[in-house]
This record gives sequence, structure tokens and C-alpha cells, in this order.
Amino acid sequence: MKFFLDSANLQEIEEAISWGVISGITTNPTLVSKETGSFNELVKEICRLLQDKPVSVEVLSTTSGGMVEEAGRLAALAENIVIKIPMGAEGLKAVYRLSHEGKKVPCNVTLVFSANQALLASRAGAAYVSPFVGRIDDISWDGVGLVKEITNIFTCHKLDTYVIAASIRHPVHVEQVAVAGAHVATVPFAVLQQMSRHPLTDLGIERFLADWEKTRRNEII
Ligand code: E4P
Repeated sequence: MKFFLDSANLQEIEEAISWGVISGITTNPTLVSKETGSFNELVKEICRLLQDKPVSVEVLSTTSGGMVEEAGRLAALAENIVIKIPMGAEGLKAVYRLSHEGKKVPCNVTLVFSANQALLASRAGAAYVSPFVGRIDDISWDGVGLVKEITNIFTCHKLDTYVIAASIRHPVHVEQVAVAGAHVATVPFAVLQQMSRHPLTDLGIERFLADWEKTRRNEII
């Protein structure tokens, strides 16, 4: 399973890239609304930092025509743009056109809450589908179970759409979606930080340093 960072914050993105674990970025209108400055410049800078790795940017239009037009403008900003399209009939029409007409643009179908939605998105030509694990758990359904269902269906029917487990809320989600077969987990920076830590690691470092200090404090290694 690969990791994408779910963020539009340049500092977080630069820090996460320096860890060497990030294979892409997902953004959404809420994440972008937390940042300042020109939207186009922000998107261009994120894409530059990611080099050739995929950066998902979401359209705001609600008609397929509007989505396709918007996608054209976004795709012109950088080569590594992936167009994030909300699930629905208009979204499917846009995905079909963007993935089959002219200079094809990869699409990430977002706001997926059922296996049928994922299946339709894949058949329309989506490069990625994003089931929202945390938001499903919020309404007392099983977000990880949905990821498992979708990955099983895609494997069984030999569909090459990648499953991005989205709306990840904590490190346990990450482990669970990895076991469920997600190709990618898109994680907020705070979750990435939590994943790197363990109280026993901190305690271990503390003890090693204290023992060294007791007997060998003047030796330089
Ligand atoms: C995914 O692509 C979305 O940007 C994101 O994971 C949504 O997460 P949330 O439910 O925490 O807003």
C-alpha cells in the first residue's frame, strides 16, 4: 500500500516528502480553503514539489460540461494533476469524457460510499476511487469493510482502478485498510506523525541515552 498525503498545506507537504514515504497528494475544497494566496499558484507549487507524482485537485462544478471545462483548466496547470470528480451521474459522464476523449486526463472519483458507486466509477474510466472510511464509520457503518469489498470486487473482475482509502482518522485505520487491500491510503499529516511514534520507542531512546551518559559521556562517536 502506498501513502498519499491528504493536505494542501505546503509546509506539511514539504516535511512529509522529506520522510521519503509520500507517493502523491490529495486535496479537496475544504483543505484548500484553509490556505491563503492564489489557488492556481498553490496547485502549481504542490505539483512542482511532487515532481511526477499524482496530485488530486477537485472540481467545483455540478454539471458534467462544467466539470470537463474546469478539468481542462486544472490539467493545464501541471502534468501530474489528477482531476477529483464527485460521484454521481454528472460525475460519471465527466469521468467517461475525460478518460476517453482527446488528451486523456486521469480522474479520482471522490465521495464514494458504496461498492456500486466504486464499480460504476471504475467502468466509466476512473484511474482512482476514494471510499471515505471515517465518514462511513461516523454513521455507524463499516468504512474498512467497504474498502475490503471494493478491493475484492476489483480483483475478482480484473479492474485496474486503484482504491484510495480516504477520510482516514487515525493510525488503526491505516493498518486496517492495508490489511483490507487498499492500494493507497491518503492520510492527514497528523496521522502520519502518529504512525511514526510509539511510547516504547521514546522510552527506549531515553534509556539508551541515559545509560550512555552514566559511563561514557565524554566519548564522541
Ligand atoms: C480524500 O481525498 C478527502 O480529501 C479526505 O480524505 C476527506 O477526509 P475527511 O472526511 O476527514 O474530510
